[in-house]
Amino acid sequence: MRYQVVSSPKNVVWFLTLLTITVFFHCSATAKTQNSLKRGSSLSVEDDSDFLTSPDESFTCGFYGVGTNAYWFSTWFTNSKSRTVVWMANRDKPVNSLGSRVSLRNDGSLILTDVDGATVWQTSTNSSSLDVERAELLNSGNLVLKDAHGKILWQSFDFPTDTLLPNQPFTKSKKLISTLGRGTFGTGYFSFYFDNDNVLKLMYDGPDISSLYWPDPDYSVFLNGRTNYNSSRIAVLDDSGNFLSSDKLQFSASDMGVGVKRRLTMDYDGNLRLYSLNSLTGFWVITWEAMAELCKVHGICGRNGICIYTPQPKCSCPPGYEVVDTSNLNKGCKPKFNLTCSQSQQVKFVQIQQVDFYGFDLNYSEPISFDNCRKFCLEDCRCEAFSYRLTGEGRCYTKSALFNGYKSPNFPGSIYLRLPMSVEASLSTKLNASDACSRTNVTKVVVGSPSVYANSTKRLRWVYMYWFAFAVGAVEILFILSAWWLLFRRRGAAAPIEDGYHVISSQFRMFCYPELKKATKNFKEELGRGASGAVYKGVLADERVVAVKKLADIYQGEDVFWAEVSTIGKINHMNLVRIWGFCSDDKHRLLVSEYVENGSLDKHLFPPNFLGWKERFKVAIGIAKGLAYLHHECLEWVIHCDVKPENILLDSNFEPKIADFGLAKLSQRGSLSSMFSRIRGTKGYMAPEWALNLPITAKVDVYSYGVLILEMVKGIRLSSWVVEDSEDQEAELTRFVRVAKKKIRCGEDQWIEDMLDPRLEGQFSRNQAAKMVEIGVSCVEEDRSKRPTMDSVVQELLECADESHAGSPHKK
Ligand SMILES: *[C@@H]1O[C@H](CO)[C@@H](O)[C@H](O)[C@H]1NC(C)=O
Ligand SMILES: *[C@@H]1O[C@H](CO)[C@@H](O)[C@H](O)[C@H]1NC(C)=O
Ligand SMILES: *[C@@H]1O[C@H](CO)[C@@H](O)[C@H](O)[C@H]1NC(C)=O
Ligand SMILES: *[C@@H]1O[C@H](CO)[C@@H](O)[C@H](O)[C@H]1NC(C)=O
Ligand SMILES: *[C@@H]1O[C@H](CO)[C@@H](O)[C@H](O)[C@H]1NC(C)=O
Ligand SMILES: *[C@@H]1O[C@H](CO)[C@@H](O)[C@H](O)[C@H]1NC(C)=O
Ligand SMILES: *[C@@H]1O[C@H](CO)[C@@H](O)[C@H](O)[C@H]1NC(C)=O
Repeated sequence: MRYQVVSSPKNVVWFLTLLTITVFFHCSATAKTQNSLKRGSSLSVEDDSDFLTSPDESFTCGFYGVGTNAYWFSTWFTNSKSRTVVWMANRDKPVNSLGSRVSLRNDGSLILTDVDGATVWQTSTNSSSLDVERAELLNSGNLVLKDAHGKILWQSFDFPTDTLLPNQPFTKSKKLISTLGRGTFGTGYFSFYFDNDNVLKLMYDGPDISSLYWPDPDYSVFLNGRTNYNSSRIAVLDDSGNFLSSDKLQFSASDMGVGVKRRLTMDYDGNLRLYSLNSLTGFWVITWEAMAELCKVHGICGRNGICIYTPQPKCSCPPGYEVVDTSNLNKGCKPKFNLTCSQSQQVKFVQIQQVDFYGFDLNYSEPISFDNCRKFCLEDCRCEAFSYRLTGEGRCYTKSALFNGYKSPNFPGSIYLRLPMSVEASLSTKLNASDACSRTNVTKVVVGSPSVYANSTKRLRWVYMYWFAFAVGAVEILFILSAWWLLFRRRGAAAPIEDGYHVISSQFRMFCYPELKKATKNFKEELGRGASGAVYKGVLADERVVAVKKLADIYQGEDVFWAEVSTIGKINHMNLVRIWGFCSDDKHRLLVSEYVENGSLDKHLFPPNFLGWKERFKVAIGIAKGLAYLHHECLEWVIHCDVKPENILLDSNFEPKIADFGLAKLSQRGSLSSMFSRIRGTKGYMAPEWALNLPITAKVDVYSYGVLILEMVKGIRLSSWVVEDSEDQEAELTRFVRVAKKKIRCGEDQWIEDMLDPRLEGQFSRNQAAKMVEIGVSCVEEDRSKRPTMDSVVQELLECADESHAGSPHKK
């Protein structure tokens, strides 16, 4: 329907009259919307106006149909573009489009019957349900059965399907289970639940295997930041978008704050995501997600399949294998050969770099040479492949089955498939797709619900349709009129993006300059000042304490700045300072980030101050994790380029948070050809590549991290290592490394004590200290190919993280 807007006074009067009439009739038409169902009454599938609506109209409950003959009794968001379903009674048993009903029977049970009268679903009944007086849909999205006194006797919140709503308690008996696929509703394979050890997990439970994949199964509960000591097993998402669980899992929506409609959904692709509804467009935006690398979700590519980034995650088959079902790549791959156990069959091993299959290890050995690893696999006829990693000593995993395959550019090893000699196995080019983190374009965050995209083909009754059409018309006119009004009022205002909060993409907010000026009391309290600009403390209107950085020296166009900054804003990791938003107008470019209480590392570590060993080690691991995330897991490849103690902030628990990441990106894009042409970084922490004009890679951060970790061991600045003469810093470092290498090589008894901060007075773990020196020394190798990756640094540090030691908490 199109309505022309005409401006003659007569017409306006006519329109206003029409408007009044239509609004009136629309109201009388919708007056039928109800939020409760009395005992003895029912909702019918044929009647399109038979819905329950929550008092604030955010939720609707009734029959939800897909196609012509499949209906579900469900609750959905009224105002989302695609009618996002949050709860379903009969997800695996849709009912007919004719004759199906939901009735609140006289015995107090709510019951769903199909066309033939068969009971498809019903609420559990016991003696107390006899008191049920009505079914009611609450503003929270909870469908409840209440007695005459308003006491809740049954609630849909106790039986979640794939979605958790704010204030819906998530407890030990509950599970969010994904749907089978996009646009389907049947029970799928991924679930989110409290495991027996009291920890919230994500699990794939498919036809062949089941496997836990979140939190990271390679690490212990505690290294994943959880605890299994609290057996209350309760979690809740609050109105502001904070999720808090008894296992210490805690996260917040990136658009934290009240007044936004949110949902936490176990998506069909195995990721758990928090969404916020954009009330203007009706689309959902992702404001948090559990898995940064979707290929690390287990089970998605089936048996023998490998998940690769193209750059979207996609399933592919290894050489010698073919897809089981071309219409569904998630079903895995089957071998094009028969492997027998007979000695006579000649086999070969085909290497696929950067690929691993998680789990199903026949045996694990370390240290071991490649040839021996190969021999193990050859001698065991159950072995289908082996994985060999060269991090430190060789590690060998022989595999009895190939599941959970993924390609990661930073996986420090290869998988070697065992194939009969006769099989032609050239490495498929499909596997050669671009790597997740090396692509230059950001993966656009999916907007809209990936789980529900269905056409509602329900017939509308003509009469209702008639009134509805008028109502739409009226709303449209109102809309146009108010838009005009706004336009006239706001004429002259520069850009439409300037009104206060503007949500860009999914992640964070745009602030306006006056707002930040007010928050920082006109940039009164300066927290620090660096090459990239000065940082001020501020308090936002919602009482969040923030750090506001005025960026100096940014000459980018507004759109480029937007693009870059929104990429940075998507980065979310415990050890990285969270970016909440930015401001960009003619003259000013500001970044708004989390305020970290305890100040920067240099203020704690170097004399006259002192940091205990336990904290030093914790900080070393945290920084490594943060950098590993930037280098390996990010949506976009990020090199920090300026790792130094001043850029490491400590929170109240001495958990480090890296600041200023992404600034290199903001200032480097002068021209694409001369990426990183300007020298960045800080003398003393800068890798030799900068001076040698070599291409800059993530290894420059590894170098700076090496210097930093050595400083943490010594407790003093690199620049004060050598006092007697005035050689430059690089030479001091070289000398230190030479001495350290010699001491490590000779295994002198007291070598570690000699290298360490004497102020620790023996209060440290020798193993951890030795590991830190070793890592530090390898990180500052001149030849960057000899430096480890941050991923392997994290692994190595974690290996000695658990040990008890005589660490003194704090002393001055
Ligand atoms: C009946 O069901 C309600 C709600 O499910 C429950 O709270 C109550 O304890 C049950 N009563 C009995 C006697 O089982
Ligand atoms: C366990 O978790 C609950 C919910 O987060 C919390 O209220 C309670 O204090 C915790 N108990 C202990 C012993 O930490
Ligand atoms: C493998 O063996 C099965 C039966 O043992 C046979 O049906 C199949 O064709 C063989 N496949 C190939 C590729 O030789
Ligand atoms: C695993 O390998 C070790 C040698 O590294 C061997 O002694 C052991 O028997 C193997 N175990 C199994 C179950 O094959
Ligand atoms: C695939 O990778 C190899 C080695 O990594 C490279 O030489 C080749 O150019 C790549 N092919 C494509 C199509 O990207
Ligand atoms: C990257 O994005 C730019 C602009 O958004 C586009 O022109 C270009 O084709 C994209 N490159 C790739 C590899 O997708
Ligand atoms: C859904 O709508 C699209 C476009 O409006 C149409 O192409 C498609 O056939 C519809 N699907 C069904 C199941 O009606």
